[in-house]
Amino acid sequence: MASSFYVFGNWKMNKNAIQARDFVRQLRAEVKPEEEAAFCIFPSALTAFAVSEALISSKISWGGQNIHSEEAGAFTGENSPAVLKEMGAKYCLVGHSERRQIFFEPEEFMAKKVVKLQELGITPVLCVGETLDSRKWGRTHEVILRQLKSGLDGVDFSKPLFIAYEPVWAIGTGEVATPEQVSEVHDRIRESLLELGGARSSQVPILYGGSVKSSNSPGLAALREVNGFLVGGASLDPAEFLAIYRNRTGN
Ligand code: PGA
Repeated sequence: MASSFYVFGNWKMNKNAIQARDFVRQLRAEVKPEEEAAFCIFPSALTAFAVSEALISSKISWGGQNIHSEEAGAFTGENSPAVLKEMGAKYCLVGHSERRQIFFEPEEFMAKKVVKLQELGITPVLCVGETLDSRKWGRTHEVILRQLKSGLDGVDFSKPLFIAYEPVWAIGTGEVATPEQVSEVHDRIRESLLELGGARSSQVPILYGGSVKSSNSPGLAALREVNGFLVGGASLDPAEFLAIYRNRTGN
């Protein structure tokens, strides 16, 4: 199992450049140097420059919310992974459920993005998760295994990689998955990773995401295969974001 604990903040399409800088200033004022590496902020593409500048000389990292799998070309409205790298991003989300559901990103895009990011030295964070219907029909594991298999096709398990389990029904709804539900899925994800990538995949951190806040995070952080959180709404406030990290059990 991966040993560090991570708290990643997905800002989605929130905050302008001034608000983004203010957030980073407030977070940097509070975070201890030894805590910095646990945090990553995922600003929208248009505020990424402000965030990257505000994070200079900090170990707090930032990442992209989405990129195209090609480095350049006729792809109006898309973001280049090569430029993301130049700007200093350490991570990039792939296959967030809002990309899959609202923007109909097809499954076959995911692996291409994962492979390209690894090639450029950016750590992909592949997001997987079932819809409420899939869960009701008992298809949770089947859906997640399918997303893992197709999203990790061609991945290099010797290079950094993260998985984020985000049940679609828990994202932005206030309805957090129970520790039992999270534990069951994370254990199955770990088993699937070991089957797909062998022993090296024991180091792949698995994050949980879906309505995480400082009041519900301790019970989830204590679970064996939960190596951190991908936080949406609660990552918009620096004090709350920090509290999610500091409230984790056993620290
Ligand atoms: P939420 O979002 O914490 O607001 O539910 C999580 C996510 O979409 O990554």
